[in-house]
Amino acid sequence: MKINGKTKLTGIIGWPVEHSKSPLMHNRAFDALGLNYCYIAMPVQPERLKEAIEGIRALGFTGINVTIPHKQTVMQYLDEIDKEARFIGAVNTIKNEDGCLIGYNTDGKGFMESLREEGIDPSGKNIFVIGVGGAARAVCYYLCQHASKLYLHGRNMQKASVLMNDLKTVSSEVSITETKSSIQYADIIINATPLGMKEDDPMPFEPSMLRPDQVVCDLIYWDTPLIKQAREIGCKAVNGLGMLLWQGVLAFKIWTGITPPVELMREELLKGQNT
Ligand SMILES: NC(=O)c1ccc[n+]([C@@H]2O[C@H](COP(=O)([O-])OP(=O)(O)OC[C@H]3O[C@@H](n4cnc5c(N)ncnc54)[C@H](OP(=O)(O)O)[C@@H]3O)[C@@H](O)[C@H]2O)c1
Repeated sequence: MKINGKTKLTGIIGWPVEHSKSPLMHNRAFDALGLNYCYIAMPVQPERLKEAIEGIRALGFTGINVTIPHKQTVMQYLDEIDKEARFIGAVNTIKNEDGCLIGYNTDGKGFMESLREEGIDPSGKNIFVIGVGGAARAVCYYLCQHASKLYLHGRNMQKASVLMNDLKTVSSEVSITETKSSIQYADIIINATPLGMKEDDPMPFEPSMLRPDQVVCDLIYWDTPLIKQAREIGCKAVNGLGMLLWQGVLAFKIWTGITPPVELMREELLKGQNT
């Protein structure tokens, strides 16, 4: 698709953001559908966030994605925030409706879609989540509505207890566990910490605790040492690529009202992973 005078603008703000794979997947989808849109990565320093959001409005962007470190702080500059994003306390997608900026969070729903396509049904399951930050809040909001029991484990007990109390307004079957030994009772174990992103990171928990009948998910979007070891043990193990893909698919739908070609978007993400 050639950029011309009618091209509609979308993109992502973050700091840093040049590593983002979102431009690849969204531009591929716009091209495939013949939609006159483009998606660019825009590095925005934290102290310039307010100006950047005013710019999005002034320049008439159709919508943007928001990534670290702006997902929480951006909320104060928006006109409306949808119910789920408000609960999660973070926005990863903004739609510009005639100058009215509306915030959404597609991370949690994206994660649920990634489970669905892997044939993993969280209904009636015991689920153990390690980490109680933004991504954990997003996935737990949905998981607690299906799980039989949701165990939260965070290194910051106060933060874990805030999340537990918030989730209890959605479902009563949520508890904090101080030790990782509850992993033995879990059907699904989710790493929602960044442990595994760097080569010298310790494991989020000792993988030898795992049994082959358990499912292990890592929100990091490549095969971390945890995912690799879980597979060796015989567990079904899923990395965060599907979540990244589906949060993008859902954002695309919010902006355009059109379902994008999911497999082409996945192809772009996988291509990026091999380079
Ligand atoms: N696949 C996707 O589309 C997708 C989307 C969003 C996020 N993610 C991934 O999800 C992970 C979490 O992101 P986030 O946005 O939730 O980050 P976050 O808000 O910073 O939360 C991270 C959580 O991990 C804990 N943590 C951090 N370092 C730790 C360590 N060394 N040991 C134990 N716990 C540690 C934090 O504890 P404290 O609160 O005590 O710091 C916090 O509970 C990241 O790897 C991110 O890349 C993936």
